[in-house]
Amino acid sequence: MAKTTLSAVRGMNDILPPESGAWQQLEQSFRSVLAQYGCAEIRVPIVEQSALFARAIGDVTDIVQKEMYTFADRNGDSLTLRPEGTAGVVRALIEHGALRGQTPRLYYMGPMFRHERPQRGRYRQFHQLGVEFFGIAGASADAEIIALSARLLASAGIPAQLQLNSLGTPESRAGYREILLAYLRPHAQQLCNDCQERLERNPLRVLDCKIASCQEIARGAPQLLQHLDPESAAHFVALQELLQAMDIAYTINPRLVRGLDYYHRTVFEWVADGLGSQGTVLAGGRYDGLVAQLGGPETPAIGFALGMERILALRSLTQASESSTGPALFLGALDEPALSAVFQRAEELRSQGLSVVVAGPGSVKSLLKQAQRSAARYQVLLGGSDLTGGDILLKEQEGQGEWRGPWAELPRALATLGVDFP
Ligand code: HAM
Repeated sequence: MAKTTLSAVRGMNDILPPESGAWQQLEQSFRSVLAQYGCAEIRVPIVEQSALFARAIGDVTDIVQKEMYTFADRNGDSLTLRPEGTAGVVRALIEHGALRGQTPRLYYMGPMFRHERPQRGRYRQFHQLGVEFFGIAGASADAEIIALSARLLASAGIPAQLQLNSLGTPESRAGYREILLAYLRPHAQQLCNDCQERLERNPLRVLDCKIASCQEIARGAPQLLQHLDPESAAHFVALQELLQAMDIAYTINPRLVRGLDYYHRTVFEWVADGLGSQGTVLAGGRYDGLVAQLGGPETPAIGFALGMERILALRSLTQASESSTGPALFLGALDEPALSAVFQRAEELRSQGLSVVVAGPGSVKSLLKQAQRSAARYQVLLGGSDLTGGDILLKEQEGQGEWRGPWAELPRALATLGVDFP
């Protein structure tokens, strides 16, 4: 029987070294920015009951209608691989009673799943860093979380433009929906198939359709910003004043509506050049009604998520090569007696915090090849006879640095050469 090779599921990617090193670096630098804003990490399951997403994201959204990985558990429960992180975080906080009288600021990192058509910057398994602030109704929370999003992007070296809009309250939006429908219905025939389909159930989505003919019609539509309730309008002004005070530039995009139904008032997206139609690297907004809608106490909230793959793709456009992620030292044994000495010394150095790889026994030629592949900063090749008197040679792989001396002195020599012992 012919053997077929198995491959990863379409739209789901393996992340191998050295790429995984670039991911770790980025995650690490994001974590330190998040700490500056007092955010703590929350880890929630990747699988939730399907009803959670239908209730939180909205029955009539593309995500819930077309994109979820939903399956029956062995006992018949309907479960779904999370398409986003906000719903699970809200569910967890309600379940653990973590919202009463508190204002948690939380972040999460991890895989999300959407059955979309894969293309550059759009995958079926992708990774988000998400941040959620709870318990603050005022525009200060919006301003602070937008400042945090700006700093995260700056820390990753990603230039992007901030777009802002306000969706008002569900009541003001319901009034606007009728006004918008009255404008759109006579144009129904000119809309794309998707928009014709969504026209009656979710007409606001027509406003941010990417198809040129729909955009043309959307440009002439009455604007939601002109139909905001007075509190939402004041909130939007207060937010803009705070952004101006912090020198954060933005443009108001009256057609920015977002693809999830839980938003109230402020919505925002950061858009970068270089990824074609998948240029939105970070997006979010306020969702004051969601906690109560999922059975928790009335709690205002705002958050966003950024797409890790999109950030990394943009970084690789601007940075020719990632810095080396190789170990500090390669120790190669030329024969059996040297091997046990090398193992012993490697453990000793590792317990002092140094990264070491060990190889052998092997010929000089094969060890040198392995040393090069390891991308270690320094290498030592050692035979049994070097242990009893002779000097060993420590060599820098990419530079000219070297040291010659007794095997017992190696740790001290490394420290003198400035090899990091954390
Ligand atoms: P979202 O706009 O659906 O919002 O996704 C946020 C970001 O995740 C996008 O801007 C994009 O960078 C990335 N992303 C989304 N789908 C894909 C995909 N198929 N492939 C690669 N990257 C993707 C949310 O998920 C909300 N939960 C954000 C939020 C948090 N709002 C409030 N709190």
